[in-house]
Amino acid sequence: MTAIDPAPMDYRPDFHFTPQKNWMNDPNGLVYFEGEYHLFFQYNPHGKDWGHMSWGHAVSTDLVYWQELPIAMPEREFMIFSGSVVVDWSNSSGLGDGSAPPLVALYTAYWQTSERQSQHLAYSHDRGRTWIEYPGNPVLCLEMEHFRDPKVFWHAPSDAWVLVVALSREHKVQVYRSTDLIVWDLASEFGPAGSTSGQWECPDLIEVPIEGTSETAWALKVDVDKDLVCGGSGAQVFAGAFDGYNFTPFPGQEAQIVDLGPDFYAAQSWSDLPEGTSHPIWIGWMSNHLTGKDYPTHPWRGAMTLPRELYFKMEQQLVLAQRPACLARRSLPEHAIIGTLAGGQRLLLDRDDAPFLGQIVFTVGARTHGTLSLAVAGDDDSGIQIALDFDAREIRLRRGRHPALPADAFAAASASAMPPGDEFSLRIIIDRSSLEVFVNDGARVLTACYFPMGKARTELTTDDGALIVFMSPVDDGAYAEPILTENPV
Ligand code: FRU
Repeated sequence: MTAIDPAPMDYRPDFHFTPQKNWMNDPNGLVYFEGEYHLFFQYNPHGKDWGHMSWGHAVSTDLVYWQELPIAMPEREFMIFSGSVVVDWSNSSGLGDGSAPPLVALYTAYWQTSERQSQHLAYSHDRGRTWIEYPGNPVLCLEMEHFRDPKVFWHAPSDAWVLVVALSREHKVQVYRSTDLIVWDLASEFGPAGSTSGQWECPDLIEVPIEGTSETAWALKVDVDKDLVCGGSGAQVFAGAFDGYNFTPFPGQEAQIVDLGPDFYAAQSWSDLPEGTSHPIWIGWMSNHLTGKDYPTHPWRGAMTLPRELYFKMEQQLVLAQRPACLARRSLPEHAIIGTLAGGQRLLLDRDDAPFLGQIVFTVGARTHGTLSLAVAGDDDSGIQIALDFDAREIRLRRGRHPALPADAFAAASASAMPPGDEFSLRIIIDRSSLEVFVNDGARVLTACYFPMGKARTELTTDDGALIVFMSPVDDGAYAEPILTENPV
């Protein structure tokens, strides 16, 4: 008898990427080439649990609408773990076919039998649809079990390919250099630093513009697979300088948790972005290693965040800020000024049977006390609530229960200090089972998945004070104004 999945509620988001079916984790091989943004991803072709890791594949021409393609790299005698792709414009590897530059992938081969992880190269002549395994593999092997997730980029000032990769158990990121993507020389190591509560995974080293200046700084991001303050696995980032060989954090600069919510992991930045793109763009796995394996979605499991644009903001120290990269590319109608929410009022955002999906953008004025909260509330205390607590000057995220999920881990609250200053802006993106909160244009970000049961109600309430709410749907088309009601006494 075939086991029947209890067909849970349809939690599939509208405008975040999910695979049609089966398990997905890290984004891999993000590259732009010949008009397509590629999104490869860790994928299990055989089921909804982690295993048989292969590279799934999707493409988009605008980072908004994605088309899933057949599996690009299936599991072999080893699993195809995370890695990256670059366009080898000058055919430095010699692996081109003479007609167009090859796409070159560096990924981790995981040999379960010998418990070894080594870095392999594969290349493609057909825009990433199929891949040829380099016969000289591995290109990098330390005979270690926890050595993974190579991210490659071209460093023009020092005229070399640079690869960062994690020594996961040693809490180190190694930096290698190459002129041909095949022979790699160790240039330096970074770490341990910041959090070492779990294994280090999926490093990325990115040159990021500093807001309001013509300067850039380098962000070294590395994920930690458990016990980070955001609840389970998460990402930390260091700001510093990079000369092609060494990453040197700025003096006094502390490690920053990239996203204070529970569901942001393994983000990777796109390589070879189109000419004129002003900021680096990355995307993360909108899940985590603590509770993500039980998320009650069907027949798929695992979603990506929205692609996010990166920049540094100068506060006490440089802060890596992230804002949605693609919403602005949709033709949005003018923001509707919905009005002022007074103390004791409630703004219902859903209409008839349709749950609210889209973004809410508003500015919170100077306030010293009270709470403003947005909730997507389902039955039996399921759903999610984000509360701005002006007494504690804290932004708190609390997930409700779901019977498929361990209450202690799943419902644990996440929090962020409110940003300094009187006024701040919020952009909240709601997509059926996920919420992304961007505070002050992404200087603080909280991302969480949630699973409301029954019919969810999306509402904003405040116990005090006034607030102007601007809102816009994420997609084109008519949008009904939400209903403003008095709170029941
Ligand atoms: C991160 C990670 C990587 C690894 C991949 C395996 O989520 O554990 O370190 O390459 O997932 O799926």
